[in-house]
Amino acid sequence: MEIRAIAGAIQSIDDELIVVNLFEGVETPGGATGAVDQAMGGAIREAIAHGDLRGKKGEALVLYTRGALPARRVLVVGLGPRDRFSLQGVRETAAVAAKKARELGVRSFSSIVHGAGAGGFPLEAAAQAVVEGTILGLYRYRELKSEPPERPDPEQFTLVQFDAARLPEVQAGAQVGQIVAEAACLARDLINRPANYATPTDLARLAVEIADEFEAMRCQVLSQEDAAQLGMGAFLGVAQGSNQPAAFIVMEYHPDREDLDTIVLVGKGITFDSGGISLKPSEKMDRMRGDMGGAAAVLATMRAIGRLALPLHVVGLVPATENMPGGRAYKPGDVLRAMNGKTIEVLSTDAEGRLILADALAYAARFQPKAIVDLATLTGACVVALGQGVAAGLFSSDDGLRARLCAASEASGERIWPMPLYDEYLEAIESLTADLANVAGREGGVGTSAIFLQQFTEGYPWAHLDIAGMVFEERPDTPKRPPHLQKGGTGFGVRLLVQFLRDWASERP
Ligand code: BES
Ligand code: ZN
Ligand code: ZN
Repeated sequence: MEIRAIAGAIQSIDDELIVVNLFEGVETPGGATGAVDQAMGGAIREAIAHGDLRGKKGEALVLYTRGALPARRVLVVGLGPRDRFSLQGVRETAAVAAKKARELGVRSFSSIVHGAGAGGFPLEAAAQAVVEGTILGLYRYRELKSEPPERPDPEQFTLVQFDAARLPEVQAGAQVGQIVAEAACLARDLINRPANYATPTDLARLAVEIADEFEAMRCQVLSQEDAAQLGMGAFLGVAQGSNQPAAFIVMEYHPDREDLDTIVLVGKGITFDSGGISLKPSEKMDRMRGDMGGAAAVLATMRAIGRLALPLHVVGLVPATENMPGGRAYKPGDVLRAMNGKTIEVLSTDAEGRLILADALAYAARFQPKAIVDLATLTGACVVALGQGVAAGLFSSDDGLRARLCAASEASGERIWPMPLYDEYLEAIESLTADLANVAGREGGVGTSAIFLQQFTEGYPWAHLDIAGMVFEERPDTPKRPPHLQKGGTGFGVRLLVQFLRDWASERP
């Protein structure tokens, strides 16, 4: 979709549809909505007076202009109560409007920047949120459908800014919003894509393609032989059971700039998690194609930072493999040796994510990063603790890094919540045979998984995000589901990471 921003008054815009808004309880709209209402001879006030328009969240009322304005239709979207309005509300409002536009068969539409005027948010951030909501709201996964969709997507979206002097802010926000949202849609595609179309080899090919888009980005794909040379016994142990060759992907943005801060991102890239010999139940096992949600977020974030030209040395690491119960598969009771020399007793082959991450976290030390953040669909226990689709778990050894991630979460609307790394969790994964066991009992399962990872993070500030509950949106298309999410892959983590990195680049600690 083409996204642009222009200066002008929304009521004078000639387009198939123009979008304005209304806070709940407002009877006489002001600002842009008021101007449109005036030009329409009070049509919006009339709708309010009849109770057909109340400004409730999710509400979208279409009015026909019948020549009163250059535009053919007006869409009034509800913002909900003014005192509970947020940037997340801006995204959701924009998503409602975009979906309505598509439903109406509109190919081109224009909108004011929700949230900037009476909403009180900075214009640039509001413009970014509107564009994010628009693109995310229209997302659908259609790669493997033979027929075109009944309703095509709109081709053009225009943000209309009244005060021409402030147009650059809207343009800047819109551009960031487009880059970030398109990256999130890439991550959604990767998650939705069936595991037979998104093998480790496919992910590696995509990583190379992304790096090729940018002068300053490099990608190296380590084969299983390379990984063996490096001593990545934990990663290779998981890969053993699959006929698909594993790949350890190393992407680097600004590899040669020693003046820039180094941040490492690590994404769990299990392209299918059958559980291995500790086989999962067959029900809903198809969801385990999404066990590379962390990898999807990292790959997509790398593309976004390339497009944003962020002044940071960012390394993206993706250990990619299937977890399968093949004839050569690793078995419960086997002991693996990770790259940092630690030995791990495999008590469950289904706790494979922490094994491949162990080697990735040990590998990351060579970059001497200022911070490292890993994202992983690591445990069902995290979903039990925080809920499906509610928040990701955040673990960190560093208060500053934790605070930065929480701030980025607040700004991006992607929820994460801090969890503890108590000593008891480490005691729980003691092994009789090896240095560590890969699982403990059911209790505290999210804490024991995180503290396991910590054993491989020597020498740098580290944070871990358990995104198991955030990768798939499960709710059907009801008012309960936020309108910027569709059933299926969410692309969780991309907006959070990009915000975190942009903040880091703008205020180097
Ligand atoms: N990929 C799963 C975790 C998961 C569960 C992701 C639900 C998304 C939704 C992970 O590899 C796993 O199987 N974890 C086990 C760990 C257990 C064996 C300690 C789990 O959570 O059951
Ligand atoms: Zn597993
Ligand atoms: Zn897994």
